[in-house]
Amino acid sequence: MQPLILFPRDIMSKVTVSIIKADVGGFPGHSTVHPELMKVAEDNLKGKDILTDYHVTHCGDDLELIMTHEEGEDSEEVHALAWDTFKEATDKAEKLGLYGAGQDLLSDAFSGNVRGMGPGIAEMEFTPRKAEPFVAFLMDKTEPGAFNLPIFKIFADPFNTAGLVIDPSIHQGFRFEIWDIKESKRIFMDSPEEMYDILALIGAKSRFVIKRVYPKEGKLPGDEPVAAVSTEKLYQIAGEYVGKDDPVAIVRSQSGLPALGEVLEPFAHPFLVSGWMRGSHNGPMMPVSIKNSVCTRFDGPPRVNALGFQLKNGSLGDAADLFDDPAFDPVREESAKIADYMRRHGPFEPHRLPMEDMEYTTLPGVMKEFEDRFESLK
Ligand code: 13P
Ligand code: 13P
Ligand code: MG
Ligand code: MG
Repeated sequence: MQPLILFPRDIMSKVTVSIIKADVGGFPGHSTVHPELMKVAEDNLKGKDILTDYHVTHCGDDLELIMTHEEGEDSEEVHALAWDTFKEATDKAEKLGLYGAGQDLLSDAFSGNVRGMGPGIAEMEFTPRKAEPFVAFLMDKTEPGAFNLPIFKIFADPFNTAGLVIDPSIHQGFRFEIWDIKESKRIFMDSPEEMYDILALIGAKSRFVIKRVYPKEGKLPGDEPVAAVSTEKLYQIAGEYVGKDDPVAIVRSQSGLPALGEVLEPFAHPFLVSGWMRGSHNGPMMPVSIKNSVCTRFDGPPRVNALGFQLKNGSLGDAADLFDDPAFDPVREESAKIADYMRRHGPFEPHRLPMEDMEYTTLPGVMKEFEDRFESLK
Protein backbone atom coordinates (compact mmCIF):
# COMPACT_ATOMS: atom_id res chain seq x y z
CA MET A 1 0.00 0.00 0.00
CA GLN A 2 1.23 3.51 -0.81
CA PRO A 3 2.25 5.42 2.29
CA LEU A 4 -0.02 8.32 2.91
CA ILE A 5 2.02 11.49 2.59
CA LEU A 6 0.54 14.49 4.27
CA PHE A 7 2.09 17.90 3.82
CA PRO A 8 2.21 19.95 7.01
CA ARG A 9 -0.40 22.39 5.68
CA ASP A 10 -2.87 19.54 5.06
CA ILE A 11 -2.85 18.39 8.62
CA MET A 12 -3.01 21.86 10.12
CA SER A 13 -6.59 23.01 10.21
CA LYS A 14 -7.35 26.05 8.18
CA VAL A 15 -9.01 29.05 9.68
CA THR A 16 -11.45 31.45 8.05
CA VAL A 17 -11.59 35.11 9.01
CA SER A 18 -14.90 36.73 8.02
CA ILE A 19 -15.75 40.38 8.42
CA ILE A 20 -19.41 40.94 7.69
CA LYS A 21 -20.79 44.45 8.16
CA ALA A 22 -23.93 46.46 7.64
CA ASP A 23 -25.42 49.82 8.46
CA VAL A 24 -28.62 48.90 10.30
CA GLY A 25 -29.31 52.33 11.75
CA GLY A 26 -27.30 55.45 12.60
CA PHE A 27 -27.08 57.37 15.86
CA PRO A 28 -27.66 60.20 15.17
CA GLY A 29 -28.01 60.51 11.40
CA HIS A 30 -25.17 58.64 9.68
CA SER A 31 -22.54 59.40 12.35
CA THR A 32 -22.04 56.32 14.49
CA VAL A 33 -23.58 53.11 15.90
CA HIS A 34 -25.67 53.19 19.08
CA PRO A 35 -24.08 51.11 21.90
CA GLU A 36 -27.34 49.14 22.24
CA LEU A 37 -26.87 47.79 18.69
CA MET A 38 -23.36 46.64 19.54
CA LYS A 39 -24.81 44.89 22.57
CA VAL A 40 -27.39 43.07 20.44
CA ALA A 41 -24.57 41.88 18.18
CA GLU A 42 -22.44 40.75 21.15
CA ASP A 43 -25.36 38.83 22.65
CA ASN A 44 -26.14 37.22 19.33
CA LEU A 45 -22.61 35.96 18.61
CA LYS A 46 -21.77 34.93 22.17
CA GLY A 47 -21.54 31.16 22.75
CA LYS A 48 -22.24 30.20 19.14
CA ASP A 49 -20.58 26.82 18.43
CA ILE A 50 -20.08 27.64 14.79
CA LEU A 51 -17.63 30.45 15.64
CA THR A 52 -14.18 30.00 17.13
CA ASP A 53 -14.09 33.65 18.16
CA TYR A 54 -15.59 37.05 17.31
CA HIS A 55 -15.12 40.75 17.91
CA VAL A 56 -17.94 43.26 17.54
CA THR A 57 -17.10 46.86 16.73
CA HIS A 58 -18.18 49.75 14.51
CA CYS A 59 -16.73 52.09 11.96
CA GLY A 60 -18.79 55.28 11.76
CA ASP A 61 -22.40 54.10 11.37
CA ASP A 62 -21.47 50.57 10.26
CA LEU A 63 -21.86 47.61 12.60
CA GLU A 64 -18.87 45.30 12.10
CA LEU A 65 -18.74 41.58 12.93
CA ILE A 66 -15.20 40.19 12.86
CA MET A 67 -15.44 36.40 13.16
CA THR A 68 -13.15 33.37 12.99
CA HIS A 69 -14.34 29.82 12.26
CA GLU A 70 -13.51 26.61 10.38
CA GLU A 71 -16.42 26.66 7.94
CA GLY A 72 -14.61 28.20 4.95
CA GLU A 73 -15.74 31.16 2.86
CA ASP A 74 -19.42 31.61 2.03
CA SER A 75 -20.55 29.34 4.85
CA GLU A 76 -24.34 29.28 5.03
CA GLU A 77 -24.35 29.00 8.82
CA VAL A 78 -21.91 31.85 9.39
CA HIS A 79 -23.73 34.11 6.92
CA ALA A 80 -27.09 33.21 8.48
CA LEU A 81 -25.74 34.09 11.92
CA ALA A 82 -24.57 37.49 10.63
CA TRP A 83 -27.90 38.08 8.85
CA ASP A 84 -29.95 37.21 11.95
CA THR A 85 -27.71 39.47 14.01
CA PHE A 86 -28.30 42.40 11.65
CA LYS A 87 -32.04 41.66 11.66
CA GLU A 88 -32.16 41.75 15.45
CA ALA A 89 -30.05 44.90 15.54
CA THR A 90 -32.49 46.44 13.03
CA ASP A 91 -35.41 45.63 15.36
CA LYS A 92 -33.52 47.37 18.16
CA ALA A 93 -32.74 50.34 15.88
CA GLU A 94 -36.45 50.64 15.09
CA LYS A 95 -37.34 50.53 18.78
CA LEU A 96 -34.79 53.26 19.51
CA GLY A 97 -35.95 55.32 16.51
CA LEU A 98 -32.45 55.32 14.99
CA TYR A 99 -31.82 56.79 11.56
CA GLY A 100 -32.25 54.51 8.53
CA ALA A 101 -33.01 51.36 10.54
CA GLY A 102 -32.15 48.36 8.37
CA GLN A 103 -30.52 50.63 5.75
CA ASP A 104 -28.22 47.98 4.25
CA LEU A 105 -30.56 44.98 4.52
CA LEU A 106 -31.99 45.07 1.03
CA SER A 107 -33.86 41.81 1.00
CA ASP A 108 -36.41 40.24 3.32
CA ALA A 109 -35.53 36.61 2.86
CA PHE A 110 -32.15 35.04 3.59
CA SER A 111 -31.28 32.42 1.00
CA GLY A 112 -28.01 30.89 2.13
CA ASN A 113 -25.56 33.75 1.67
CA VAL A 114 -25.50 37.46 2.50
CA ARG A 115 -23.68 38.33 -0.75
CA GLY A 116 -25.89 40.54 -2.89
CA MET A 117 -28.25 41.22 0.02
CA GLY A 118 -26.69 44.45 1.23
CA PRO A 119 -24.05 43.65 3.87
CA GLY A 120 -20.35 43.95 2.94
CA ILE A 121 -18.12 40.89 3.28
CA ALA A 122 -14.35 40.32 3.35
CA GLU A 123 -13.47 36.69 3.97
CA MET A 124 -10.45 34.50 3.63
CA GLU A 125 -9.53 30.95 4.48
CA PHE A 126 -5.86 30.13 5.07
CA THR A 127 -3.42 27.96 6.96
CA PRO A 128 -2.28 29.99 9.94
CA ARG A 129 1.44 30.37 10.51
CA LYS A 130 3.00 29.82 13.93
CA ALA A 131 2.38 33.47 14.67
CA GLU A 132 -0.37 34.98 12.55
CA PRO A 133 -0.75 38.77 12.77
CA PHE A 134 -3.49 40.37 10.66
CA VAL A 135 -5.22 43.72 10.45
CA ALA A 136 -8.94 44.30 10.00
CA PHE A 137 -9.37 47.58 8.12
CA LEU A 138 -12.81 49.17 8.34
CA MET A 139 -13.88 52.22 6.34
CA ASP A 140 -16.94 54.46 6.48
CA LYS A 141 -18.25 57.06 3.97
CA THR A 142 -16.49 55.62 0.95
CA GLU A 143 -16.48 52.77 -1.59
CA PRO A 144 -14.47 49.53 -2.08
CA GLY A 145 -12.08 51.20 -4.57
CA ALA A 146 -10.80 53.30 -1.65
CA PHE A 147 -8.68 50.26 -0.75
CA ASN A 148 -6.90 50.21 -4.14
CA LEU A 149 -4.26 52.77 -3.23
CA PRO A 150 -3.31 51.42 0.21
CA ILE A 151 -3.39 47.74 -0.82
CA PHE A 152 -1.28 48.50 -3.88
CA LYS A 153 1.23 50.41 -1.76
CA ILE A 154 1.44 47.64 0.87
CA PHE A 155 2.11 44.83 -1.62
CA ALA A 156 3.71 46.56 -4.61
CA ASP A 157 5.29 49.92 -3.77
CA PRO A 158 8.96 49.71 -2.72
CA PHE A 159 8.79 53.29 -1.40
CA ASN A 160 6.14 52.07 1.06
CA THR A 161 7.25 48.52 1.78
CA ALA A 162 10.97 48.33 2.42
CA GLY A 163 10.74 44.53 2.49
CA LEU A 164 10.05 44.39 -1.26
CA VAL A 165 13.62 45.61 -1.69
CA ILE A 166 15.48 44.15 1.27
CA ASP A 167 13.61 41.01 2.45
CA PRO A 168 14.39 37.94 0.28
CA SER A 169 11.07 36.32 1.34
CA ILE A 170 8.93 39.03 -0.34
CA HIS A 171 11.38 40.32 -2.95
CA GLN A 172 9.57 38.37 -5.72
CA GLY A 173 6.41 40.47 -5.27
CA PHE A 174 2.73 39.52 -5.18
CA ARG A 175 -0.19 38.54 -7.39
CA PHE A 176 -3.28 40.77 -7.55
CA GLU A 177 -6.84 39.62 -8.27
CA ILE A 178 -8.63 42.65 -9.74
CA TRP A 179 -12.37 42.83 -10.36
CA ASP A 180 -14.16 44.91 -12.94
CA ILE A 181 -17.24 45.60 -10.82
CA LYS A 182 -19.22 47.14 -13.69
CA GLU A 183 -18.76 44.22 -16.12
CA SER A 184 -18.49 41.45 -13.47
CA LYS A 185 -15.12 40.15 -14.72
CA ARG A 186 -11.80 39.52 -13.04
CA ILE A 187 -8.13 39.35 -13.95
CA PHE A 188 -4.99 38.15 -12.16
CA MET A 189 -1.88 40.31 -12.53
CA ASP A 190 1.63 40.03 -11.17
CA SER A 191 3.71 42.70 -9.52
CA PRO A 192 6.37 43.95 -10.16
CA GLU A 193 6.25 42.53 -13.74
CA GLU A 194 2.89 44.11 -14.63
CA MET A 195 2.95 46.99 -12.18
CA TYR A 196 2.12 49.70 -14.74
CA ASP A 197 -0.79 47.65 -16.13
CA ILE A 198 -2.12 47.05 -12.64
CA LEU A 199 -2.03 50.80 -12.01
CA ALA A 200 -3.72 51.51 -15.36
CA LEU A 201 -6.71 49.54 -14.08
CA ILE A 202 -6.90 50.26 -10.35
CA GLY A 203 -6.39 54.02 -10.77
CA ALA A 204 -10.00 53.90 -12.07
CA LYS A 205 -11.13 52.98 -8.57
CA SER A 206 -14.89 53.24 -9.07
CA ARG A 207 -14.67 50.43 -11.65
CA PHE A 208 -11.62 48.25 -10.99
CA VAL A 209 -11.08 47.07 -7.43
CA ILE A 210 -8.45 44.88 -5.86
CA LYS A 211 -10.36 41.88 -4.51
CA ARG A 212 -7.52 39.68 -3.23
CA VAL A 213 -3.74 39.51 -3.06
CA TYR A 214 -1.81 36.21 -3.24
CA PRO A 215 1.83 35.41 -2.52
CA LYS A 216 3.95 34.11 -5.38
CA GLU A 217 5.78 30.80 -4.88
CA GLY A 218 7.87 30.96 -1.72
CA LYS A 219 7.31 30.87 2.01
CA LEU A 220 3.51 30.82 1.85
CA PRO A 221 1.07 28.68 -0.20
CA GLY A 222 0.33 30.55 -3.45
CA ASP A 223 -3.36 29.58 -3.44
CA GLU A 224 -4.20 31.16 -0.08
CA PRO A 225 -4.93 34.89 -0.04
CA VAL A 226 -2.94 37.28 2.12
CA ALA A 227 -5.40 40.16 1.68
CA ALA A 228 -9.12 40.37 0.84
CA VAL A 229 -11.42 43.35 0.29
CA SER A 230 -15.23 43.59 0.25
CA THR A 231 -16.57 44.57 -3.18
CA GLU A 232 -20.33 44.75 -2.81
CA LYS A 233 -22.08 47.45 -4.83
CA LEU A 234 -25.21 48.53 -3.03
CA TYR A 235 -26.63 50.61 -5.85
CA GLN A 236 -26.43 47.64 -8.21
CA ILE A 237 -28.48 45.63 -5.75
CA ALA A 238 -30.91 48.33 -4.70
CA GLY A 239 -31.20 50.08 -8.06
CA GLU A 240 -31.02 53.44 -6.29
CA TYR A 241 -28.83 55.26 -3.79
CA VAL A 242 -29.13 53.74 -0.33
CA GLY A 243 -25.76 54.79 1.13
CA LYS A 244 -22.24 53.93 0.00
CA ASP A 245 -20.69 50.48 0.17
CA ASP A 246 -18.49 51.35 3.11
CA PRO A 247 -15.80 48.68 2.62
CA VAL A 248 -13.71 46.40 4.85
CA ALA A 249 -10.47 44.47 4.28
CA ILE A 250 -8.33 41.81 5.91
CA VAL A 251 -4.55 42.06 5.52
CA ARG A 252 -2.12 39.46 6.89
CA SER A 253 1.36 40.57 7.93
CA GLN A 254 4.99 39.61 8.81
CA SER A 255 7.10 36.49 8.04
CA GLY A 256 7.03 36.46 4.24
CA LEU A 257 4.56 39.34 4.09
CA PRO A 258 4.83 43.10 4.64
CA ALA A 259 5.58 43.98 8.27
CA LEU A 260 2.81 45.50 10.38
CA GLY A 261 4.29 48.99 10.02
CA GLU A 262 4.42 48.54 6.24
CA VAL A 263 0.75 47.53 6.26
CA LEU A 264 -0.17 50.73 8.14
CA GLU A 265 2.18 53.08 6.30
CA PRO A 266 -0.11 53.98 3.33
CA PHE A 267 -2.51 55.57 5.82
CA ALA A 268 0.09 58.20 6.72
CA HIS A 269 -1.19 59.93 3.56
CA PRO A 270 -4.78 61.29 3.61
CA PHE A 271 -5.53 60.19 0.03
CA LEU A 272 -8.74 61.32 -1.67
CA VAL A 273 -11.66 58.90 -1.94
CA SER A 274 -15.25 59.23 -3.08
CA GLY A 275 -18.14 59.02 -0.67
CA TRP A 276 -18.51 61.52 2.21
CA MET A 277 -21.77 63.55 2.24
CA ARG A 278 -24.59 61.64 0.50
CA GLY A 279 -22.00 59.36 -1.07
CA SER A 280 -21.44 62.12 -3.62
CA HIS A 281 -18.21 63.90 -2.73
CA ASN A 282 -14.47 63.45 -2.91
CA GLY A 283 -12.68 63.90 0.39
CA PRO A 284 -9.60 62.86 2.36
CA MET A 285 -9.30 59.55 4.20
CA MET A 286 -8.75 60.08 7.94
CA PRO A 287 -7.23 57.22 10.00
CA VAL A 288 -8.83 57.21 13.47
CA SER A 289 -9.20 55.18 16.66
CA ILE A 290 -12.49 53.40 17.26
CA LYS A 291 -13.55 56.04 19.77
CA ASN A 292 -13.08 58.69 17.07
CA SER A 293 -14.86 56.63 14.45
CA VAL A 294 -17.73 59.10 14.37
CA CYS A 295 -18.54 60.83 11.07
CA THR A 296 -19.47 64.40 11.90
CA ARG A 297 -18.14 67.12 9.63
CA PHE A 298 -20.21 67.07 6.42
CA ASP A 299 -20.97 63.48 7.49
CA GLY A 300 -17.26 62.70 7.45
CA PRO A 301 -14.57 63.09 6.46
CA PRO A 302 -14.27 59.42 5.38
CA ARG A 303 -12.72 57.33 8.16
CA VAL A 304 -10.61 54.23 8.40
CA ASN A 305 -10.04 52.06 11.49
CA ALA A 306 -7.34 49.42 11.84
CA LEU A 307 -7.70 46.64 14.40
CA GLY A 308 -4.72 44.34 14.84
CA PHE A 309 -4.99 40.70 15.99
CA GLN A 310 -2.59 37.83 16.68
CA LEU A 311 -4.50 34.65 15.86
CA LYS A 312 -3.96 31.76 18.27
CA ASN A 313 -5.65 28.42 17.55
CA GLY A 314 -8.23 30.33 15.56
CA SER A 315 -8.95 32.75 18.40
CA LEU A 316 -8.65 36.48 17.90
CA GLY A 317 -7.39 37.36 21.36
CA ASP A 318 -7.26 41.07 22.12
CA ALA A 319 -7.81 43.76 19.50
CA ALA A 320 -5.15 46.48 19.18
CA ASP A 321 -6.60 49.82 18.05
CA LEU A 322 -3.69 50.66 15.73
CA PHE A 323 -4.59 54.23 14.71
CA ASP A 324 -5.02 55.20 18.38
CA ASP A 325 -1.51 56.58 18.15
CA PRO A 326 -0.09 60.14 18.14
CA ALA A 327 2.13 59.08 15.22
CA PHE A 328 -1.03 59.49 13.10
CA ASP A 329 -1.94 62.95 14.52
CA PRO A 330 -0.23 64.85 11.67
CA VAL A 331 -2.22 62.80 9.10
CA ARG A 332 -5.45 63.64 10.87
CA GLU A 333 -4.53 67.34 10.87
CA GLU A 334 -3.61 67.24 7.20
CA SER A 335 -6.84 65.41 6.48
CA ALA A 336 -8.83 68.11 8.32
CA LYS A 337 -7.05 70.81 6.27
CA ILE A 338 -7.80 68.99 3.02
CA ALA A 339 -11.42 68.65 4.17
CA ASP A 340 -11.52 72.46 4.55
CA TYR A 341 -10.01 73.00 1.13
CA MET A 342 -12.36 70.56 -0.58
CA ARG A 343 -15.43 71.93 1.23
CA ARG A 344 -14.80 75.42 -0.12
CA HIS A 345 -15.74 74.09 -3.58
CA GLY A 346 -19.31 73.54 -2.39
CA PRO A 347 -21.36 71.88 -5.14
CA PHE A 348 -18.57 72.06 -7.73
CA GLU A 349 -16.55 69.18 -9.11
CA PRO A 350 -14.08 67.77 -8.23
CA HIS A 351 -15.44 68.05 -4.67
CA ARG A 352 -18.79 66.80 -5.92
CA LEU A 353 -18.43 63.57 -7.88
CA PRO A 354 -18.58 63.64 -11.71
CA MET A 355 -21.98 63.19 -13.42
CA GLU A 356 -21.26 59.55 -14.22
CA ASP A 357 -21.02 58.68 -10.52
CA MET A 358 -23.93 60.95 -9.57
CA GLU A 359 -26.20 58.73 -11.68
CA TYR A 360 -26.52 56.49 -8.65
CA THR A 361 -27.63 59.25 -6.30
CA THR A 362 -30.69 61.44 -6.09
CA LEU A 363 -29.43 63.88 -8.77
CA PRO A 364 -31.26 62.17 -11.70
CA GLY A 365 -34.51 62.94 -9.84
CA VAL A 366 -33.64 66.65 -9.78
CA MET A 367 -32.64 66.59 -13.48
CA LYS A 368 -36.00 65.04 -14.41
CA GLU A 369 -37.83 68.10 -13.09
CA PHE A 370 -36.57 70.35 -15.89
CA GLU A 371 -36.10 67.76 -18.63
CA ASP A 372 -38.86 69.35 -20.75
CA ARG A 373 -37.43 72.87 -20.43
CA PHE A 374 -34.26 72.08 -22.38
CA GLU A 375 -34.29 73.57 -25.91
CA SER A 376 -32.19 72.14 -28.73
CA LEU A 377 -29.20 74.24 -29.85
CA LYS A 378 -29.08 72.62 -33.32
P1 13P B 1 9.57 39.28 9.75
O1 13P B 1 9.74 39.31 8.25
O2 13P B 1 10.32 38.19 10.42
O3 13P B 1 8.14 39.28 10.12
O4 13P B 1 10.22 40.64 10.36
C1 13P B 1 10.35 41.80 9.66
C2 13P B 1 10.08 42.98 10.56
O5 13P B 1 9.23 42.91 11.43
C3 13P B 1 10.82 44.24 10.32
O6 13P B 1 10.12 45.35 10.78
P1 13P C 1 -23.67 55.78 4.97
O1 13P C 1 -23.43 55.07 3.64
O2 13P C 1 -22.47 55.65 5.87
O3 13P C 1 -24.93 55.34 5.60
O4 13P C 1 -23.77 57.33 4.67
C1 13P C 1 -24.79 57.78 3.83
C2 13P C 1 -24.82 59.25 3.63
O5 13P C 1 -25.61 59.68 2.83
C3 13P C 1 -23.91 60.13 4.37
O6 13P C 1 -24.14 61.48 4.09
MG1 MG D 1 -25.88 55.30 7.32
MG1 MG E 1 -21.71 53.90 6.72
